[in-house]
Formats: sequence, C-alpha cells, structure tokens
Amino acid sequence: MNAFDRSIKIAPSILSADFAALGAECRAIEAQGADWVHVDVMDGHFVPNLTIGPAVCAALRPHIRTVMDVHLMIAPADPYIEAFVKAGADFVTVHAEASAHLDRSLQLIRSLGAKAGVSLNPSTPENVIEYVLDRLDLVLVMSVNPGFGGQSFITSQIEKISRIRAMIGDRPIHLEVDGGVTPETAPRVAAAGADVLVAGSAAFKGGSIAAPEIYGRNIAAIRAAATGR
Ligand code: DX5
Ligand code: ZN
Repeated sequence: MNAFDRSIKIAPSILSADFAALGAECRAIEAQGADWVHVDVMDGHFVPNLTIGPAVCAALRPHIRTVMDVHLMIAPADPYIEAFVKAGADFVTVHAEASAHLDRSLQLIRSLGAKAGVSLNPSTPENVIEYVLDRLDLVLVMSVNPGFGGQSFITSQIEKISRIRAMIGDRPIHLEVDGGVTPETAPRVAAAGADVLVAGSAAFKGGSIAAPEIYGRNIAAIRAAATGR
C-alpha cells in the first residue's frame, strides 16, 4: 500500500482557464506540472456566480490524467452528488454551510466510491468538522469568500489551517487551501500545514494554450515558494 502523500500538491483551478477550450487547458496545465485539477462548481444561490455542472465534468474527465478535484459550491448538494461521481470526480467536496446533514452528505460521497471532502468558508470555525473527521478524505479551507477568482487572501485563515492540521493528526486526510494562493501567500499556507494548494489566477496568469510554458513557470513558482526550494 502506498503511504499517504502529504507532500505539497498544486491544484490549478480551471475557473481561471479559457472556458472555450477547457479540455485543452486541463491537458496543458497537467503537462506543465499540475498535480491535481480543481473544478469549481457554482450554483448562483450558495455563491453569487454560475459555472459548470456534471455534464462539463464528464466531458473533461478524459482530458484529466491526475486527480479531478470537484469543489461543490452549491446548496443543496446531496441531490447532485451522484451525478458528479458518475462524471468521474475523484474527490467531491461539499460546503459545511450548505449541508444541513453534513455527516449524511459525506457518507453518500464515499458510498458512491469517491473521496469525501468538506469545505469551510472563512467565517466558519473549524469545530464543525470535529465529529465527522473519520468520514473525511479532505478538508478545504476557503481563504476567500467563495464565488470568484482573483480575490485577496484572508490572513485569519492561517490560524484555522494550523488548528485543522492539529485536528487531523495522523489521519489520511488532505488539507487544501483555496483562494488568493500566490507565491507570496504560499509559504505561510504550507508552513501552517496545508498539502494541497489551489491556485486560479496565480497558475493561469499570463499563459494560454498557445503559451503553456507560462503555466509551468507559474506552477513552479508557487511550488518553490511553498516548499522553500
Ligand atoms: C473561489 C474558488 C477558487 C478560486 C481560486 O470561489 O473556489 O477555486 O477560483 O481563485 P484564485 O486563486 O484566483 O483566488
Ligand atoms: Zn475552489
């Protein structure tokens, strides 16, 4: 059995990609060093923006060789979980604030064969995960208020990341951070104990399918900042 991988992983968010060419964008960021591909699903209700649904995830699946990391910013989430698992999501993450019965949502995700994640908005305290830790494969700390790319990192979340890192202990649970992650903020995020760094703007900035090497430079810069190498 492989040991649980706590090394730093960079997960570019395709929210910042060219939506007219999402398949090619996924291939490009993976070729340029992305460890996971982060897919932001928004419903115009839980968050004030609309993005993509399970049909687009299913269409993207053949273009993703690494890990399809699906972040559901939708309420309710339960009626749609099966569709995202069938679309090929490796991880399905629901928001604690969007689920009246978080324990049930997490059980549902695992029962369908995917890995289960919970996400916490910046104002949500970490203790909401205390009694579901053993149902979790991932905790996602939002370091911006979800809905849009390109917002500034909320520094109060560093303390929350450290506290969750301590709560996780030796459990095989990834600790992911999403929002405003850049080469400037990545060192604090990694030092606090996160192992998966989502980056939208900072990963895609200045690049394109025609100039993918810029994605490579962006990803390398975030990784170097996080690992101190
Ligand atoms: C925010 C999304 C994030 C976002 C990150 O609502 O969940 O994944 O796209 O974008 P940046 O890295 O630009 O803050
Ligand atoms: Zn996200």
